[in-house]
This record gives sequence, structure tokens and C-alpha cells, in this order.
Amino acid sequence: MSSTISNTQLKALEESLLNTSGNIPLHDRFRSLFTLKSLKNEDSIRIISKGFQDSSALLKHELAYCLGQIKSPSALPVLECVLRNPSEDSMVRHEAAEAMGAISATKSIPILEEYLSDPDRSVRETCEIAIARIEWDKTEEGAKTEEVMKDEDYIPLYTSIDPAPATSGLLAGAPKPEEISQSKIDELREQLLDGKRPLFERYRAMFALRNIGSPAAVDALAAGFSDDSALFKHEIAFVFGQLLSPHSVPCLLQVLQNGTESDMVRHEAAEALGGIATPEVLPYLKEWVAREDSPVVVRESCQVALDMWEYENSGEFQYANGLENASTPISVV
Ligand SMILES: [Fe+2]
Ligand SMILES: [Fe+2]
Repeated sequence: MSSTISNTQLKALEESLLNTSGNIPLHDRFRSLFTLKSLKNEDSIRIISKGFQDSSALLKHELAYCLGQIKSPSALPVLECVLRNPSEDSMVRHEAAEAMGAISATKSIPILEEYLSDPDRSVRETCEIAIARIEWDKTEEGAKTEEVMKDEDYIPLYTSIDPAPATSGLLAGAPKPEEISQSKIDELREQLLDGKRPLFERYRAMFALRNIGSPAAVDALAAGFSDDSALFKHEIAFVFGQLLSPHSVPCLLQVLQNGTESDMVRHEAAEALGGIATPEVLPYLKEWVAREDSPVVVRESCQVALDMWEYENSGEFQYANGLENASTPISVV
């Protein structure tokens, strides 16, 4: 969906996102970013692209994510620049590669291939998945799926462009959870946890389980937290942030509290908890926003998560800044 706004509103969003005054809290900058994302136009791409000068890896990885979700090839040069920058935080580079996958231009394939041997595991795994995504989009099933999604009558459960489509037959909006047998969930769980399969296939099972969304599917997804890939685990936490099932709270709290877990995974767990926003998560978010041993990205994520928690518990109309007509689902990466 796109929205039109005045130049003054656009300027205000830019100043907020880029923190020109120097006193805009991070969570407000995030809200402005989500509003810009919902505009889905060249102005928003131009403004979002300026944010990569910032020092916050958390903010920058979200910028890259939003550029991918806008799905315009005009964002490819800036995303490529981010991926190519060896001094950029790996979480940001990962998100840039993933965004290139979401935009799905064939010309991105050779660039992504260059990073299949990147020293950072999350970056090379992301490139592997992004290439597979772009190639899948060109298959007959990919083309058919795009047609279905363009149909006016198609109402997706989740509006995000995911790194991998759900397993065939389980695309968002397709079979109702109650029509899914336990044996189907077991089969998807097996695919999800099978380290010998390509990550793209495992991700397809992950998004299929998200689309099913029942407590049994949540349990299957939670088993993924014992994997050794930080990328894979952070995506499980992301999916929980979309599902918003209170059933996932205990495992997400465990991840957040685990000081030996990768920051990227803990960050995603914190934000998922902020979105789920049940009363028991609040003290944990407050704790990790204040703790001295909290890594910057975890602390900042808890700050954003607290804002999400308050929003969810406030009855506010929308989680974004400044635009009444910019429908902005509360979903961060
Ligand atoms: Fe990510
Ligand atoms: Fe993230």
C-alpha cells in the first residue's frame, strides 16, 4: 500500500529518522522508519538510504530490511554498497543481502555469489538463501505464486516478503490450521531441523509452520533454537515476532536471557517479546535495557521492544509516526 504526504511531513520524517536534532529517541526513529516504509516510493527509499551513516547497527539493519520490503530495484545500489563494506556490522550486511533477495533481481545473483565465502557465516548463509529465493521466483511455482499474491481476493496472513516462500501448499492464507494434521507438522519439523538440507528448504518449512501457527507448530519452531546457525535461530525468533503467540514466550525469554547466545538472535527475541507484549515479558525487557552487561544491540532492541510493548498495551491506533493513513503493521526484524 502506498500513501501520499506533504513535503513538510516528509521532511519531518526525514529529520526524525536521521535524528538531525540529536535528541530523537531510537524508538521514535523506528516509528518514522516504519511510516517511510509504508509510503513505498522513491522519496522514502532516498531518505531511508541516508540513514546508513548512523552508528546504530540495529537501526541500519532495519533500514536494509525496509528497503527490501519496499521491493524497488532502485534500492539495489545502496544495498550492494552495504554488503560490500567489510567494516559494516555483519547484522547489517546480512540484512542488505536478504533485502537483495526480497527485491529479487537476476542481476543481484553474481554479486551475492561473491559473498558465498564471506568470513561471516551469517552473511554467507544469507547470500545462499537470497540466491535460492531469486532463482525460485523464476520457477513455474514462483511465477504462479506471484500471480496468486497479486489477486485482489488474496488476503495474506503476513504481508512481509519472506526470505523463502512457505513449503508448497502452505503459502499464507492457504489451508486452515485445523486442517493440518500432526503428521504434517512432524514432517515440517523434520525438514526444519535437518541440517543436511539446504537452508532455503529449511526456511520454507519454517514459514510453513508460521502459516500454520498452532501451538504444535510453535513447538516445532522452538526446537529450531537448538541449531548452531545464528542466522537460522534469529529467523525463528523473527517468525515468533510475526506469530505473536504467547505460547512462544518461554523459549524467547530463554534466548533473551542467554548471555552466550549471539546478539543477533537475542535482539530478535527481544523484539518478538515486545510485540507479544504479555505482562510477564515487561520486567525482562526492562532488565536488559538497563543491565551494564547488555550488548548494545540487545539493549537497543529492548528499548524498541518496550516501546512496542507500550503501544500494544495502549490502544493507540497505529505504530508509526505522523500519518493517519499509513497502515504500518508492527513488525520489526
Ligand atoms: Fe535478519
Ligand atoms: Fe533483526
